[in-house]
Amino acid sequence: MIGGTVGEVVESRNDKYAVGDKVVGFGGWQLYSTATGKGDVTKVDTTHIPLSAYLGSVGMPGMTAWYGLMKICEPKAGETVCVDAASGAVGSVVGQLAKLKGMHVVGIAGGPDKCAYVRDELGFDECIDYKAFPEPADFYAALKAVTPRGIDCHFENVGGSIMDAVLLRMNAFGRIALCGMISGYNGVPIPMAAPQLILQSRLKIQGFIVSEHMNLWPEGLGELGGLVATGKLKFRESIADGLASAPQAFFDLLKGKNFGKQLVKLV
Ligand SMILES: NC(=O)c1ccc[n+]([C@@H]2O[C@H](COP(=O)([O-])OP(=O)(O)OC[C@H]3O[C@@H](n4cnc5c(N)ncnc54)[C@H](OP(=O)(O)O)[C@@H]3O)[C@@H](O)[C@H]2O)c1
Repeated sequence: MIGGTVGEVVESRNDKYAVGDKVVGFGGWQLYSTATGKGDVTKVDTTHIPLSAYLGSVGMPGMTAWYGLMKICEPKAGETVCVDAASGAVGSVVGQLAKLKGMHVVGIAGGPDKCAYVRDELGFDECIDYKAFPEPADFYAALKAVTPRGIDCHFENVGGSIMDAVLLRMNAFGRIALCGMISGYNGVPIPMAAPQLILQSRLKIQGFIVSEHMNLWPEGLGELGGLVATGKLKFRESIADGLASAPQAFFDLLKGKNFGKQLVKLV
């Protein structure tokens, strides 16, 4: 089973990697993995950045946030940005980066605890607990109340009824970074209530896959690493214990039971 991993070199026949070196790569769901050392693992510095962060804010999820915000949303100070799954690995980085760019940041997350974290610890301006508004009209009203100047940029992680409400608040020439549609990961197609809004509001909607932009990773991860090392980018993790707990942790992720980056501690 493929999966991003961080770990420690326990045996080496490669001069560039010594026993004890910390590495990040795609070791998969297993206790030990072999690597050629030719691009499949990267040595990381844990002096100022915890090893696990290389799977989160300073890894693939952080880079996903960075790419979607910087390259698709093209943030401008004073504009309003919205992000759902806001307390998660990707969403939490999106909102904090957007705050650093001077934007008005609105998060959407499931539950009062997640929203309190997003607002009080991560510094978002607003957070809506979508679970408190099961009726689409009520959720839309709550979103409208915290976006009086509309939404210029949206970072989509969820899809479905949340995206329908956001589309109604998008300003003309708004940008949407279509990163994920987790509400449809069980295989059921996700309908869109009013696609005509894309035309009426002249929106730019762009899907992306972060691994197709490897040329930008050094730039993005360099920026994110600096922010984490200096405490300007905060993150949270949910850590499942042991390989046997990995399947349940994955199911829980799809129900929002994780709080921050979901990790599995193998050894
Ligand atoms: N395009 C790319 O290259 C790329 C790369 C990495 C990740 N992604 C996508 O980015 C998104 C976020 O990933 P992540 O790793 O940061 O995960 P995460 O946000 O840490 O965890 C997933 C969160 O999604 C929310 N969620 C799950 N099912 C939902 C549903 N049915 N309706 C509404 N919300 C739901 C839950 O948060 P709440 O409790 O707040 O609802 C859950 O905690 C995912 O869609 C993922 O597939 C895309």
